[in-house]
Formats: sequence, C-alpha cells, structure tokens
Amino acid sequence: MPSNIRPDDMERITTPELAEAFINEQIEEIRAQVGDKKVLLALSGGVDSSVVAALLIKAIGKQLICVHVNHGLMRKNESENVIEVFKNQLDANLIYVDATDRFLDLLAGVSEPERKRKIIGKEFIEVFADEARKLEGVEFLAQGTIYPDILESIKAAEGKKAVKSHHNVGGLPEDLSFELVEPIKLLFKDEVRVVGEALGLPHGMVYRQPFPGPGLGVRCLGAITRDRLAALREADAILREEFDNNGLCEKVWQYFVVIPDIKSVGVKDESRYEGWPAIIRAVNTKDAMSATIEEIPYAILHKITDRITHEVEGINRVLYDLTPKPIGTIEWE
Ligand code: XMP
Repeated sequence: MPSNIRPDDMERITTPELAEAFINEQIEEIRAQVGDKKVLLALSGGVDSSVVAALLIKAIGKQLICVHVNHGLMRKNESENVIEVFKNQLDANLIYVDATDRFLDLLAGVSEPERKRKIIGKEFIEVFADEARKLEGVEFLAQGTIYPDILESIKAAEGKKAVKSHHNVGGLPEDLSFELVEPIKLLFKDEVRVVGEALGLPHGMVYRQPFPGPGLGVRCLGAITRDRLAALREADAILREEFDNNGLCEKVWQYFVVIPDIKSVGVKDESRYEGWPAIIRAVNTKDAMSATIEEIPYAILHKITDRITHEVEGINRVLYDLTPKPIGTIEWE
C-alpha cells in the first residue's frame, strides 16, 4: 500500500498529460490491489468522491458499487445530477438511497449546531452501513481522502483543537471491516480537479464550490423545518443561477444562502406578509482558515433580491453578510 506521505520530489499534476499519466498509474495500482473483488464507495457528488468513482469505474467497472445517500439536505437537483452523470452517462453500479425522512425526523427540534452535525454524521454512517450489509462479497472501501485530509489528521493527532467538527464521516461499525482504496490521497485539491477533467467529468462537478457534509442542515439555522429547508433550497438555487449568469462562479470561492429561524413583517398584495430573511454569503479564501467578502455589484444583488422575494414562498427580505473570517466563520453554524 502506498505511503501516506507525499514524496518531496512528487511532480504537481498541472496538465492533462500529467493527469493522464497519474490515471494510468492508478488504474494499474487499483487493479493490483483489488483483483476481482468488489469495492464500495460513498458517492456524495463532491469533487473528491466523484473523481475516485470515475477512476475506479475506469479501472474495475461494475466491481465498484457506489452508494449515494440523499440525506435530504442536498442543494436543488444535486442528487439528480449524481444519478445522471454516474448511472446514465458512466453506467456505474449505483445504489441511490433517499433517506430524507430518516434524517429530518431525527433532526426535528434539534437546534444546537454541533449536535446537528453529530446526528447527520452518525446517521450517514448508519444508512451507508445498512446498504453495505445488504451486499455480498465486498472486501474494499474506496474513499476520496486527499492530502489536506491527511495533513489535518496529523495536526489533530498533535492535539490542535478545531472550531467545528468538520469531519462528517467517522469509522464504520466493527462488523464492517474493509481494506481501504484511496487513490487520490497524495493529491491536493487543484490536482484532483485536473485529474477529474482528464477523466471526462462535467466541468460543473469538477469545479463545484465546497459544500459541507451536513449540507443545507447547517444553513437552515437552529431547528430544521421542512418548509424553511424548502425555501432555503430554492433561494440557494436562484443565487447559484444568478452567479452563473454573471460569471461570478469562477471568481468567488464559496457562495450560499442561509435562513435564520426568525420572521419579520412584510407586505404583499397589500396584506401583512410575515416571512424569513434570506442571508447571502459570498467569500473568498485560500485555505478556509480566513476569508474575505466578495464585492458583488449592487445590480446583481438587486436582481437576486427581486427574484428570491418574488419566487420563493416564505421569504420577505434579503440580506448580504459583510463579515470576514475571522470574526465570523464561513458557515453560520
Ligand atoms: P467554517 O464555517 O469553519 O468553514 O469557516 C470552513 C470551510 O469548511 C466548510 N465546513 C464544513 N465542511 N463539514 C464539512 O465537510 C462540516 O461540518 C463543515 N462545516 C463547515 C465550510 O463550508 C467552509 O468551506
């Protein structure tokens, strides 16, 4: 098994040619490691797990079993997109689990952010483990571990305290023990993207902005309700569409909508209209440790405000968050 330490002389993957060489090398290694056995992968639709899936499909085809768990906290059309790309276009062996009710029932009434994270992380493992137990002959588990994850584990082992528990997926239960397949564990994010493009994954998937494991769960502030979550999903889709239409997607590192659990008074059709505010956050950063605010042109903010307040049921105000990190973290929870 390759070492967890990136050799000093390892060339950075910056071109399609270098990516191609990496892919061919990994295909050989994956085949040598797994032989004719089955491999399981939790496919979230994020860049890392998507690149690992595409790499394994190339290496071992249907011996890879992908499980996509929809926890009900995905952005609009995200699970549909995973199915379209992996099942329909790449012909992957993909199991889709809609676990929305399981997650939302457990989260009902829970308002403390770290508790929400723990519930989502734990339930994710349980849903995934339930699927794994139904399968036979799986000996390997593929993971989209990348080099910063390894560096972070080293830091954690040295006792540095984190502000939030970002690590969503802990270990699997003891009755499920697999050998790990981690083909991109020595790569940095920019290299993963170059490899993803070389594998033919859609540009939007490869350059997808970071999205936290607990998903919209940490953007629907406080106790999650289905109506507020639905409003958040629609408002976020409008924001992303407008950023896309105005060429901001490539320029801004992370942009999203947050909906707090408060209502204010508004007026609609000459009647009182109480609704939630949608808070827009758009930040730039290199490493997520600190972040600055993107200066979005007012005309674009007006358009987004107009669309969200007219198109999304339950929202009557739009606010723009001007807080850098520090003092605010990127996510509100
Ligand atoms: P914060 O809010 O800590 O976010 O400034 C820094 C980056 O991490 C993402 N984030 C998470 N990612 N699980 C994740 O996988 C989480 O629980 C989580 N919380 C925050 C956040 O979106 C930002 O990119």
